[in-house]
Amino acid sequence: MLDTSVQYLGHTLRTPIVISSSGLTNTMSGIRQAAEAGAGAVVLKSLFEEQIESTIETDGQEMELAMHPEAEQYISQMGMHLGPQRYLELIGEAKAAVDIPIIASMNCVTSKWWGNYGKQIEAAGADAVELNIAIMPRDESEPAEAVEKRYLRIVDRVRQQIDLPLAVKIGPYFTGLPKFASELRKAGASALVLFNRFYQMDIDIEDESLAPGYQFSTPEEIYTSLRWVSILSGDVGCDLSASTGIHSADGVIKQLLAGATTVQMCSALYRSGFEIITRIRDDLTAWMERKGYKSISDFQGKLSQSASDDPESYERLQYIKALTGIS
Ligand SMILES: Cc1cc2nc3c(=O)[nH]c(=O)nc-3n(C[C@H](O)[C@H](O)[C@H](O)COP(=O)(O)O)c2cc1C
Repeated sequence: MLDTSVQYLGHTLRTPIVISSSGLTNTMSGIRQAAEAGAGAVVLKSLFEEQIESTIETDGQEMELAMHPEAEQYISQMGMHLGPQRYLELIGEAKAAVDIPIIASMNCVTSKWWGNYGKQIEAAGADAVELNIAIMPRDESEPAEAVEKRYLRIVDRVRQQIDLPLAVKIGPYFTGLPKFASELRKAGASALVLFNRFYQMDIDIEDESLAPGYQFSTPEEIYTSLRWVSILSGDVGCDLSASTGIHSADGVIKQLLAGATTVQMCSALYRSGFEIITRIRDDLTAWMERKGYKSISDFQGKLSQSASDDPESYERLQYIKALTGIS
């Protein structure tokens, strides 16, 4: 019997496939379908702060609020906003209905929320919290380090307020990612989700106005996450959940070989329905059988940079041979 279970955020998941935070995980029907199809865990849709501002004053202290590019689109246009009370109820209902870990996702970063609400999330039965942080740097006087410090302060603050395991989901746009990732871990992240795919903006050339960009990822978008999972997995010292562009068992296997602890999927389910999870799980076990692997740990991280005899090949950015014409 093949063992597809993995350990993530202190819980045993029966498969490494986690359904990522989205409208798919905002209803009991979606959560049930995910569990029935074979998902290992579900990340609920993010609860965003009510007020989206760059900073607010709370208790005489300046508290940052992650300005989230997804908030406007996902909350207002898609009408998927659950109030905080309903969110707690959803956690409770999900826990009662399915036997896989339920991860709450929060974009609420002020102390005002966390002191009390964090405890209520715990009491409602959430198994972990995923903190979805997206700060859009737009102040020309703010250096990159200051932006990173804002992330770290948020993680540190949330860590102090809750006892649940904490995952931190970030985008790919950091200059010094290895150091930053290790600082996120030190600030209290038990897992990093690499990477969020943000709301894309486009321009309508007829209307000459802003328009929403294409909402879903394609399989070709896997590569940024794959490279960074393979580079960080040996060193970062916390769980890594790969996200963006995972649409098939091949994508799942690649990320596990690179060293991911789990993978997260969203767009593929929007395109193909929840059944794709079952197909991917079956394709994963067929591949394991063919390769003679009995458990995920037999091959997890086999192709991480730290396990490689040729670590430089993970860092190659230029098409040197193509540019110089040397074959
Ligand atoms: C319609 C939609 C809603 C989403 N809502 C959230 C959200 O509330 N919180 C979050 O962290 N990510 C959200 N995401 C991002 C996904 O969780 C995921 O990180 C991203 O789509 C990349 O994964 P994929 O390539 O499997 O789609 C959303 C994505 C979509 C398409």
